[in-house]
Amino acid sequence: MQREVEAASEGGRAMKTKWPGQIAVVLSRDIKGKCNPITVGWHMTTSFYPPMMAISIGKTRYPCEIICNAKEFIVAFITQSQYEEYMSYGSCTGRNVDKLKEQKTVTRPASRINSVLMDDANSNFVCPLINELETGDHCIFSAEIVSAHMNTKLLDDVK
Ligand SMILES: Cc1cc2nc3c(=O)[nH]c(=O)nc-3n(C[C@H](O)[C@H](O)[C@H](O)COP(=O)(O)O)c2cc1C
Repeated sequence: MQREVEAASEGGRAMKTKWPGQIAVVLSRDIKGKCNPITVGWHMTTSFYPPMMAISIGKTRYPCEIICNAKEFIVAFITQSQYEEYMSYGSCTGRNVDKLKEQKTVTRPASRINSVLMDDANSNFVCPLINELETGDHCIFSAEIVSAHMNTKLLDDVK
């Protein structure tokens, strides 16, 4: 049985029924040179040819400002066992703290864009921005995947 709820006031709660969903970490570099990670649940692949991906970022979140300027970002898919560790990227803003340093996250420079890859993620996608679309209080950033980095331990498992 289901009950209709008021979308404006209860829609957010209803949307939570989509959990558990895979979370990702989006990394983008601000104008001062700091790379900021954010926990993101609203992401999707959108095209095979060319390979493309989209993320939805709250307009008040720091990466919204960063990505509007930098026009590029990394999407890292982490392992389930890392969820607890990287959930912290979703509980504080990186405006005044360096979340990567605080968490001692091991990163390395990305190829082709000015951001970093998470060394221990399952995969990292290098994404220069193609389009922006305002949707309510969030902004969708769609990007081409110009390079993908995959954990070598997984190469045999993923066909
Ligand atoms: C599980 C989870 C999923 C989240 N998904 C998103 C998302 O898809 N988009 C978004 O803008 N914020 C999302 N957030 C919220 C941001 O991660 C959070 O507000 C973060 O502290 C913002 O930090 P920043 O200001 O450094 O970007 C999520 C948080 C959690 C815990």
